[in-house]
Amino acid sequence: MSKILVGIVCALLAAIAAAGVVIYTGAFDVAADTPHTAVTYRLIAFARERSIARRIEDIAPPGDLGDVAQVRRGAGNYAAMCSGCHLEPGVENSEVRAGLYPQPPNLAKFEAGSSRAAGGAARKFWIIKHGIKASGMPAWSKGGMEDAAIWDLVAFVQRLPKMSASEYRELVESSDGHSHAGRSGVADHSTAPEGVPDRHESGHGDGNPKHAR
Ligand code: HEC
Repeated sequence: MSKILVGIVCALLAAIAAAGVVIYTGAFDVAADTPHTAVTYRLIAFARERSIARRIEDIAPPGDLGDVAQVRRGAGNYAAMCSGCHLEPGVENSEVRAGLYPQPPNLAKFEAGSSRAAGGAARKFWIIKHGIKASGMPAWSKGGMEDAAIWDLVAFVQRLPKMSASEYRELVESSDGHSHAGRSGVADHSTAPEGVPDRHESGHGDGNPKHAR
């Protein structure tokens, strides 16, 4: 028995030492354009989903989730703050999304069978509010986004995969644009003309037709 224990401890120490060598020598590649191994990727995804599942148990969506006014407010904020990473109907990719790892999911497309398809409103709310470490997904509450504005975004994101490009534009244009109350002292881009997401204002002329609208 004690021999087995000693064996286990030795194996653990050897594993820790090996990990230390990999880290110290710089062999671990942190570049965003080098993917994790499939095992690491699955392990991180599993840890993420377990962590979120445990933390959303007490979150109850508001009774009126999905209300038209809510979806409209969500549309304005989504176009201003999220579409650069999560895309919109009719847009296949963006410069920032292409270079992010993990790649932000295309929220305008429904993917049957993905954790995204399985996740309900509470999961979306939690992710938008708290963000996801080392992924590029911000904790929007840190920027001052109130819970009500987050539920607006959840309502919008739930509808998004069923929207055509013209429905999307109509909703964004009839919204108040970037309208959630930001925390004072946090730079905000709500100076864009009403209903016009400001990221569309300045092209940098790279000639890529995907960026022109
Ligand atoms: C800088 C890029 C970036 C921006 C901007 C961004 N996100 Fe994300 N988001 C991510 C990444 C990356 C992930 C995936 C994280 C992971 O899998 O670990 C993600 C994940 C999510 C998810 C979970 C998707 C799922 O079901 O698995 C939701 C919902 C989401 N974001 C909503 C939003 C909303 C709403 C906004 C705007 C308020 C936003 N995001 C802005 C990068 C971004």
